[in-house]
Parts: sequence; C-alpha cells; structure tokens
Amino acid sequence: MAGVSGGLLAAEVTRAGGLGFIAAGHFQDITKLEAQIKLYIEASGKPTDLAIGFIGFSSLATQSQWENYDYILRTYRPKAVQFFAPSIVTNDSGGPSNVELAHSYGSKVLAQVGTLKDAREAMRHGVDAIICQGREAGGHGLRREAGNSTLALASQAAQISESTPIVAAGGITKGKHIASALAVGCQAVSIGTRFWACEESIGDETLQKELIKENSCDDVVRTTAFDELNNEISSIKWPKPYDSSGVLRNKITDDWDERPSSDLQHAINHSDLLEQYKAERGQTTSTAIYAGEGVGEVHSIEGAYATLLRLEQETMQAIERLKSL
Ligand SMILES: Cc1cc2nc3c(=O)[nH]c(=O)nc-3n(C[C@H](O)[C@H](O)[C@H](O)COP(=O)(O)O)c2cc1C
Repeated sequence: MAGVSGGLLAAEVTRAGGLGFIAAGHFQDITKLEAQIKLYIEASGKPTDLAIGFIGFSSLATQSQWENYDYILRTYRPKAVQFFAPSIVTNDSGGPSNVELAHSYGSKVLAQVGTLKDAREAMRHGVDAIICQGREAGGHGLRREAGNSTLALASQAAQISESTPIVAAGGITKGKHIASALAVGCQAVSIGTRFWACEESIGDETLQKELIKENSCDDVVRTTAFDELNNEISSIKWPKPYDSSGVLRNKITDDWDERPSSDLQHAINHSDLLEQYKAERGQTTSTAIYAGEGVGEVHSIEGAYATLLRLEQETMQAIERLKSL
C-alpha cells in the first residue's frame, strides 16, 4: 500500500507469521525505499523475509529505475516482490522482464491482477503466485466496468491454475472472509484496508481515523474521479484501466462519481475546480481515502501483530462453525 505500508507495518505482519510488504509505490526515490527496508530489518529480525510491492507502470519507466530495481534485488535479496498495474513489465532496451530479473536473484514474484485474462498472462510469464484483486478492494484497481468481484475471480483463477497459488484480495477484513477465500480454492489472502487501520501504518492519521467511523460497504465506491483530478496536477498519471480506486465516499465522489467524465473534464477546464481541489487536499472531504468494502467491519486502530493473530483465530473459528452446519 503506497504511502501506508512502511518497514514497521511490514515487520509486524511478518513477525506475526504473515508476509508484510513494504510499498515502493512509484519507485521514484530509492533512498526512501532503502530507509524503510532498514526499518523493516531492524524491527522484524527477518531480513530473509523481506517483501516489496511495486506499481508496474511507473516503477520501471526509465532505464535508471531498472538499474535501481536490479540494485534492490541484488543487495537485499527480497523473498518476494509484488507488481500491479500492470503486473508484467518488459524492458524496452531488451533486458529481462520484471519477473525474469527477480527470479535471477532468487526472489519470488506475486502478480496482482483484476481479470482472468491477466491471471492467465501472468501464469504464462511464470509468476509464483497470483493475487486476484476484486472490485471490493481499497486503493487502485481496474475500473469497475473492467474488473470482477473478489470471490468470482479468485475461484475461477483457482480453477484454471495448475500449480500457481491463488491469493484473494479485496474486502477482506475478518477471519470469516479469509475462510471464504480458502473455501473457493485460494492458498492465501492479501489484506490492505484492515492493515491501513493499524498503528504502524505510515498513512495520514486524520484520513486513517475516517476508516473506523460508522462506515458500511455502502460508504465505499470505486471511482475514477480522484484519478481524473490527480492526473491533471501530478507528473505521474495513472493509465486506463487502472485509473480507478476504492475510496470512502466524500464530497468529491458525491459531486462527480455518478456524472459522465466529460462533465468533470469540463469543470476542470472551465472553472476553478482544480484550484479548489488543490487547496483542499488533505481534508477528509476532498482527499481520496482509500478503503475496501470490508471497512464496514473495521472498528479500531490496533497493532498489526495483534490484528493478524486475531484474524488467524477468527478464521479457525469460522471454519469450525461451518463444520457444524
Ligand atoms: C491505502 C492503500 C494503498 C494501496 N496501494 C497499493 C499499491 O501501491 N500497490 C498495489 O499493488 N496495491 C495497492 N493497494 C491495493 C492492495 O494491494 C490490495 O489489492 C487491496 O488493499 C485489497 O483490498 P482491501 O483494501 O479491501 O483489503 C492499496 C490499497 C490501499 C487500501
């Protein structure tokens, strides 16, 4: 989770028996990533379990980023790297792909996808696990018309996979959700929102507090509104079909989500909307507060270690309960 998963959050998840990912985000600043890696190593005591997530379209856009990626793999030998948007990235100058380079250093590769077609493609490239991200997910993902629900995608990916482990992502905040992912054939789950609401998260605290208000799945929407606005003011522009994110509803989504994109573009070009948006950035009414639909069952900000242990216990209880049906 870019801007949220730093070294401490990853360390606590890993210490509790999960695999905590440090987010490299757009991978613009290698020193920031290395600082988080060092925090992770100190806090976890498990350097060999290091895992790092990269955003595909922006992390390997230049030759120097490829060199930095190579440096990170060579120096820290992460156990796993994860890619999304897209999950397979080829090198324009003819070098190995993101997957091949990671494999050459002994790192496993997890590919996050939103369609079965992309899951098949990732399997063809020999990735080590597929994360099936559903529309319920918090943060960036496929536009709602292009994506699928978590369980349908994960279940069907599990059907077509011969040996690649399938990981479900999207809307999972309780053990009962994990049990349902396991029931459809997943080997693991990938959890964002529940850990964004943890003490070790490095996200903005004011935004984080919104996660534990009286929310339900009705308060979450997958929208392109924030990407359309942010793409106007940021040098990094999210491309279609990934220019959409699961967020808590607020003034921006109320004003723009259900209107055609041309209305928003018109307002951007012919009013002071962008200036107003920039001025209000950081406020809960106008900022993308990334959250998946499972946020309706997140009620407190706790330590990640205890959160993971509780999720594990809840999963076992859910499985036991099902046995008695
Ligand atoms: C705050 C936040 C930031 C995220 N950033 C990234 C990211 O940088 N790269 C990525 O592949 N996915 C990112 N995601 C999506 C997660 O990988 C995952 O698919 C999602 O959180 C799962 O849904 P959930 O939030 O309902 O658990 C982010 C999600 C959140 C909530």
